[in-house]
Amino acid sequence: MSISIKNQQFHLQTPTTSYIMDIISTGELRHLYYGNKLHQDAKLEHTNLTMVLAESPTKDRTISYYNISREYPSYGRSDYREGSIHIQNDQYGDTIIELEYLSHYIISNCPSLKNLPHIRNTQDKAETLVITMIDKSLGLEIDLYYTILEESDVITRFSIIKNTGSMNLKILSALSLSLDICCDKNWELITLNGTWGRERKLERSPISYGAHYISSTQGNSSSSLHNPFGMLVRPYTTETSGEAIATSLIYSGNHKLNVELTPLDNLRLMLGINPFDFNWSLNPGEEFTTPQAVICYSSQGMGSVSRELHHFVQNRIINPKWKDHQRYILINNWEGTYFDFNEDKILAMAEEAKKLGIELFVLDDGWFGHRDNDFTSLGDWFDYKTKLPNGIKGLSQKISDLGLKFGLWFEPEMISEDSDLFKNHPEWRIECPRYIPCQGRNQYVLDMTRKDVQDYLYEKISSVLEESTIHYVKWDKNRNLTDIMSRELPVNQQKEFVHRYMLSLYQLFDRLITKFPDILFESCSAGGNRFDLGMLYYMPQTWASDNTDAIQRLDIQWGSSMGYPLSSIGSHVSESPNHQTGRYASLQLRGAVALFGTFGYELDPLKIPLKEKEIIKQQIHAFKKYRTLISQGDFYRIQSPETNVCSWGVVSSDKTEALIMVTRILSSANPTMIKINIPNLISSALYSVDELGITAYGNELMNSGLWMPVSNEFIKNTELSCFCSWNRSGIDPCFPDFSGMVFHIKKI
Ligand code: GLA
Repeated sequence: MSISIKNQQFHLQTPTTSYIMDIISTGELRHLYYGNKLHQDAKLEHTNLTMVLAESPTKDRTISYYNISREYPSYGRSDYREGSIHIQNDQYGDTIIELEYLSHYIISNCPSLKNLPHIRNTQDKAETLVITMIDKSLGLEIDLYYTILEESDVITRFSIIKNTGSMNLKILSALSLSLDICCDKNWELITLNGTWGRERKLERSPISYGAHYISSTQGNSSSSLHNPFGMLVRPYTTETSGEAIATSLIYSGNHKLNVELTPLDNLRLMLGINPFDFNWSLNPGEEFTTPQAVICYSSQGMGSVSRELHHFVQNRIINPKWKDHQRYILINNWEGTYFDFNEDKILAMAEEAKKLGIELFVLDDGWFGHRDNDFTSLGDWFDYKTKLPNGIKGLSQKISDLGLKFGLWFEPEMISEDSDLFKNHPEWRIECPRYIPCQGRNQYVLDMTRKDVQDYLYEKISSVLEESTIHYVKWDKNRNLTDIMSRELPVNQQKEFVHRYMLSLYQLFDRLITKFPDILFESCSAGGNRFDLGMLYYMPQTWASDNTDAIQRLDIQWGSSMGYPLSSIGSHVSESPNHQTGRYASLQLRGAVALFGTFGYELDPLKIPLKEKEIIKQQIHAFKKYRTLISQGDFYRIQSPETNVCSWGVVSSDKTEALIMVTRILSSANPTMIKINIPNLISSALYSVDELGITAYGNELMNSGLWMPVSNEFIKNTELSCFCSWNRSGIDPCFPDFSGMVFHIKKI
C-alpha cells in the first residue's frame, strides 16, 4: 500500500491494484488509470492524446472532455454528462462550476466522518490522500478524500464541500464517487434489485448508450428495490476470471448509482446521495460531507471482488466488538406466534428451544402498549401487561434462568395513530399540513430530525434495556417516508429533510450503542429493505428477507453475497409449508440454506414433531462446530441459482477445510449428473469427503470436480446428514423436488 506523488501525478497502490490521477495544464484533476497494479514509476505517457477536438473548456483544443477522463466532474463547461457536483449560487443563479487543483496532503489512517458511518481505523495501516479543488469565482473548496488500506484492495472515497466565499450556495447534487473509463464500452452492469420478499436478486445487463441508473427515493431506506451496490464486469467475466469493479455506498438513505455511456464510448460510473428531491443550503462558512463510497477492482472475477468486500466489511465496517464474536444461534417467535402470545407461551417455547441447543430467544413484535395487531401502539415502548404480567423485566429474567440469552424487537422510528405517544405528540408525526398523511402498514413515521423525538426514543429504549436482561435488539422499520417535510425546518431547507433524518438516526444509533456496547443489534426493515454498509456499521447483521422459503432464499442470499459477508446475512429456518410462498421443503434443505448466514430458527418449537426435533438438534450441533469456518472462511459462489443447481461454500483461509452446499431445485427423470468444482484447495493435499465416503487430492476436487450422488441412499450417515435430503423424484412423496445437501471437505 502506498501513495506516491510525482510530477503532479498521484498514484495510489493497494496490494494488487493501482489508481492514478494527475493534474493537467488547466488545473483539472484527470483520472488516468484504475486496474491491476502498475510500476510505481509508471508515467502513462501514452494516454496524453493530441487529438484536436471541436469542444474544449479552454482555447487549447487538444483538451476536451471527449478524451479526458475526469476525476471529479461538474456540468456546465463543455462536459454534457451528469457530474459529481452540481451547485447553484444565489448571486447569478447559475450552476456552472470549474474546479482546479489547489493543494494536497496525506494523512496516516482513515478519517472519521461527522455523523456518518465510515471505515474504521484498525491495527492495519491505512493512508488517506486529500486533494483540495477550488472554484475561486464561487468561493468553493472541495476536499476529495481517498483512503487506501494495507490489507485490502478496497479504496474509499468521499468529499467535504466548503463554502469559503460570500455567496449563499445550494448543493443540488454531491455524489461520493465518480469513475470515468475512457474509450471502452465493453462492460456490463450488475445490480441487486427486488421488492419485499424478493430482495437483492442479481441482474446482469449490457450497458447501452445513454444513462441508466438505479436509486432509492424511499427516504429512510436504501431499499429492497435497488441496493446501493453495483459491479462493472466484462461480458466474459465469470466468478473466477475477468475484470470486475464493485462499488458500494456506506449510507442507508436515498442513493443513486448512475452509469452513462456516451456514443464516443466514454463510460462514467457514479454513486452517492440521490440528487432527486435533494437540495442543501451551504451558506458562507458552512461545509457538507458526503457519505463514503467504496470501490474495488479485480481481474480475477466477481468472486474475488466479493471476497475483498467481505473481508473489508468484516475488518473495517463492522463494530470490532462483533467481528470475531460468535453470533448467537437464535429463535425468533414471529412466524411461530405472530401477535398471539403471552408469557406462558413464550416461556414454553423458550424451554423447548433451550433443549434443542438454541442460545438466544428473541421476542418479536407485540410486547408493548396494547399491540395485538399492526394498527396500534408503535411509540408506546412499555410493557403490554395483559400478555406479559411480569413485564419484559420478569420475562427476560425467567428466560435467563433457563440458560438462554434474551433479545427484543423494537420499531423505534414509527408511531401508530392509536398510541399514547400520538395522543401526547401528534406533532411528532411526519406529515404535510395540506394532506392526510399516507399510511404504510397502518403506521406513520416520526420526525427523527427533532431533538425531542431522539431524546424520547433514547430514554424509552434505554429504560427497557437497562431494567431487563437483554443481549440482542432487532431494530425494525416497516415503512418508507412519504409526505416528506418537517415542521422544524425553514421553507428553503425542506429538501434537506431526508438526509437530516438519516444523520439523526445515525446519531441515535451512536448514543444507544455507546451506552449498551454488549448488546448485539440486528437491523431489519420489512425484511431486507435497508441492507447496506451504513446499517452494518452500527448493527453487524441484517435480517435478509421476510421470505424464509429455502428456494427463494437461494436468490436472495446469492445476490446479497455479492457485496456482503455471510456474517451479516440474517438467515433462519422456518416452517414448511413456508408462510410466504406456501412451498414445502424438507427441514434438511431449509437448514442447508440457512446454514450459510447468521443461522437461527423462526418457528414454534412446540409444534415440531419429535423426529424433526432430533434433526434440529443435530443442525444446531453442526452449526456450532462449523460456525467459525462459516463466518471467517472465504466464501465462493460456485453455481448460480439461475440454473437448476445452486452451489456455494466456504473454504478456510489455510485451505485445509471447506463446507459446500449444493441444491437441486427440480428433479427430473433420467437426470443429468451434477458435478461441482471445489474452489481454492491445496493442489497436492489429500482430502476426505466423509458424506460421500471418498478421498481425493485437491487438484482432483478443483479440476475434475465432485460428482453428486443420485439420491440419499448414496450419502453416508455423518453429522451433516441433518442438512442432506437428496431425493430422486418419487422416493419421498412429500418432497419430490427441492433437494439439498452440505458436505465437509477436510485435509487428511
Ligand atoms: C417486519 C419484520 C419481521 C417481523 C415483523 C413484525 O415485517 O421484517 O421479521 O419482525 O415486522 O411486525
